[in-house]
Parts: sequence; structure tokens; C-alpha cells
Amino acid sequence: MDLFDKLETANSSLGQYSKNGGHGYYTFPKLKGEISAHMEFNGRKMLTWSLNNYLGLANHPEIRRVDAEAAQQWGLAYPMGARMMSGNTDLHDQLEAELSTFVHKEDTVLLNYGYQGIFSIVDSLLDRKDVVVYDEQAHACIVDGLRMHLGKRFRYNHNDLENLEKQLKRACRLAEESGGGVLVITEGVFGMSGVVGDLKAVVALKKQYNFRLLVDDAHGFGTMGATGAGTGEFLGVQDEIDVYFSTFAKSMASIGAFVSADKKVCDYLRYTMRSQIFAKSLPMPIVVGALKRLEMIRTQPELREKLWTIVRALQNGLKDRGFNIGQTQSPVTPVFLNGGVGEASQLLVDLRENLNIFCSIVVYPVVPKDVIMIRLIPTAMHSLEDVQTTLQAFEEVAKKLKNGDYAQEIYTVQV
Ligand SMILES: Cc1ncc(COP(=O)(O)O)c(C=O)c1O
Repeated sequence: MDLFDKLETANSSLGQYSKNGGHGYYTFPKLKGEISAHMEFNGRKMLTWSLNNYLGLANHPEIRRVDAEAAQQWGLAYPMGARMMSGNTDLHDQLEAELSTFVHKEDTVLLNYGYQGIFSIVDSLLDRKDVVVYDEQAHACIVDGLRMHLGKRFRYNHNDLENLEKQLKRACRLAEESGGGVLVITEGVFGMSGVVGDLKAVVALKKQYNFRLLVDDAHGFGTMGATGAGTGEFLGVQDEIDVYFSTFAKSMASIGAFVSADKKVCDYLRYTMRSQIFAKSLPMPIVVGALKRLEMIRTQPELREKLWTIVRALQNGLKDRGFNIGQTQSPVTPVFLNGGVGEASQLLVDLRENLNIFCSIVVYPVVPKDVIMIRLIPTAMHSLEDVQTTLQAFEEVAKKLKNGDYAQEIYTVQV
């Protein structure tokens, strides 16, 4: 049998949505034009609610200027090589120092992509004697990092402290027998549901159990806390987070990531994270651009205030109209509706083609078979008028869904 014979049938669960013209519409859609709340899709301007450009930095004129000047000055190549070999610069060091100060940690290591970065953090911190306990909804990059782990692992029910404690007990017992340590991994803000990790309760368990805590705060950095330093700051537990991770791909609207911790931990990670040691260092425009973005997050709190004005208007508006938005405490805004996959695709087409709203829909197997989850990402680029338009549109589609209008295929894509 040829290796590729199975490709016809071995499609991924997401790949099924690419069939019958779905590719380019449901999957791999192309949003065109300047990044903003209104972008072009399928030939028409649409109100867009699916970009993690929380603070509106992606297309901010100051950011665009600094990015362009850095590209002009340095090109995309410099510095060549991995950080450890030939890819280090004073500006990489400066960015690490500024990030450390901002997130209240002793030291920081830059990462080229969050995914590879956290994958290697998990891999580096754990050896076969160690035991890991992680939230069942942890991001794929954490789960993939754990695939490398040769020791024991325990998954706890999402944000369920009772279940976490039960798993911790087992983990601590095993670690004692093997002579290893325990690592707990969770997220600051869960990116699908907007739920905030119950970090206060997690760190309280440190009094009884001996473990270290790694938090992925991809969606919390820049959006949560009094200064935007993230979910640890928001909950008053930043000091208890032993290893703090975030990406530049959301609030910073760029690429790359970082991990912050005590100097001892960062020094160890610098010399052990294989995805960083054996890969090229972040190019200069990314580093210079990140310094500028961080400065703006620090000095322009009005960006975060604007984001939260939109978040509150959207979330309160949805709740007032009887929508179920789950337990979000962050800008991520899910809307849960009752319906199957067929209805979800009809609803999405209606939203896009007739109401000019572009948002992402999450269906089975990510959510149960009879649930449609629409995920809205408010940003500082949205206006209160955008919120009103969206609330009206949601009232309309919810009514149609209830009436059974989406049970047949009547809404078609206009090309
Ligand atoms: C929770 C979480 N962790 C990690 C990542 C990976 O980050 P990056 O896009 O920088 O690879 C993402 C997605 O961007 C994420 O949502």
C-alpha cells in the first residue's frame, strides 16, 4: 500500500468542512484590506469579530511606522542563526528586560512562536520522574509538549478545583515515590470560552501540595489586570505563578512570544529549549516592533479602556437580550445557541451574506453535537455602533434559528 492511499479517507475532523466549496469560506477564508473592525470578505465589507487584535495595535499608525522603519534599517534577516550561536543582539536583551519588569518577574526568554516555545518549556521542565497535572482544556501546544513527556500525567476537569486537588494528591504521591517534582499547567484566559483560570484557588493549593505552576496567558497579556500585565495581575497572584508564558500574536498583534520566571529558571530554559536552540532567532523588526508595542501597552492605558468599553457593551447587550455567553470574564465572548452543524453553517452564511458580519463559529467536535458556539473577539477598533449592529443581527439569527429557518439549505454563498 502506498503511504498516501489513506489520505482520501483520513481527513481530520476539521478537514470535513473543507468539502463542497467549504475551503476558502468556512475554512481558510481570506480577509482583505487593512486590519480593522471592517474588512473585506468574499467581495464585500464586513464587520469583523474574529481577530485577536485586542488593543487595535495591528494597524496603529505608530506601530506601522516603527515596523516599517525597522524593516528598512535591518531587513528581515538580521540577526542570522539561533540566539545561542549567532542570533543575539542588545535589543533582544532589552526586550527581555522590559518584559520582565512589565510582568513582574526576574527574567525573560524570548521565543520564536508561542507554539514551539511552550512546547519546549514543557519538554525542558519535565523529566521522566516528574508528574504533570493539567487542565483538560489546555491549548494544543501544551498538550503537544506533553506528548514528549515520558513520566506520568493527570488531566483535571476544566477549571474544577476539587478535581485538580484529587489529581494533585495522586501526582504528589507518585512524585514522592519517583523522586521527581510536580508541575501544574493551566491558562490565564481560556481562548475559546473567555473563562479565566481559577488561579487564586490553584495557588492556594500550594500551601498543602508541593508543585510549580505554569500559566499560558496568551489571551490575558495586555487585556487583563490594572496595567495589562495579565491574568496573574488581575487576580493578584502574579508572584505565585512560577512560569509565566504569553505570545506576541494577540494583544501585541505581531509574532513571537516570551516566558518569564526567576533567573534560575530562565537560565535553564535558555540552554534547554530545543525549539529555540535549534531555530532562528526573532528578526530585528519583530524585536523593535515588540519594544514599541510594549511601550504603547504601558503608556496608553486608554487602548485597554476602549477595549473594555466595547467588551462591556457587547457582553451586557447580549445578556440583556437573553443570550447565553457562558462564564466569560475576559474580552473573549462566546455565544451559545442550540443547533446542529447544518444549522450552524446556514446561520454563518446568513450572518456573512445578508448581515455582513464575519465571525467564527465553533461546532462539533469542539462543542457538543447540539451546540453552536459563535466566538466574538471585541477590540479597541470596534465602535459602539458596531456593537449595536451586531446585537440586532444576533437577535435576528437567533429568531430564525428558533423558527427552524436554518433547518433547510436556503441561504447560499454569493460569489
Ligand atoms: C492559549 C494559546 N497558547 C499558545 C498559542 C500559540 O501562540 P503562537 O501563535 O505565538 O504560536 C496560542 C495561539 O496563538 C494560544 O491561543
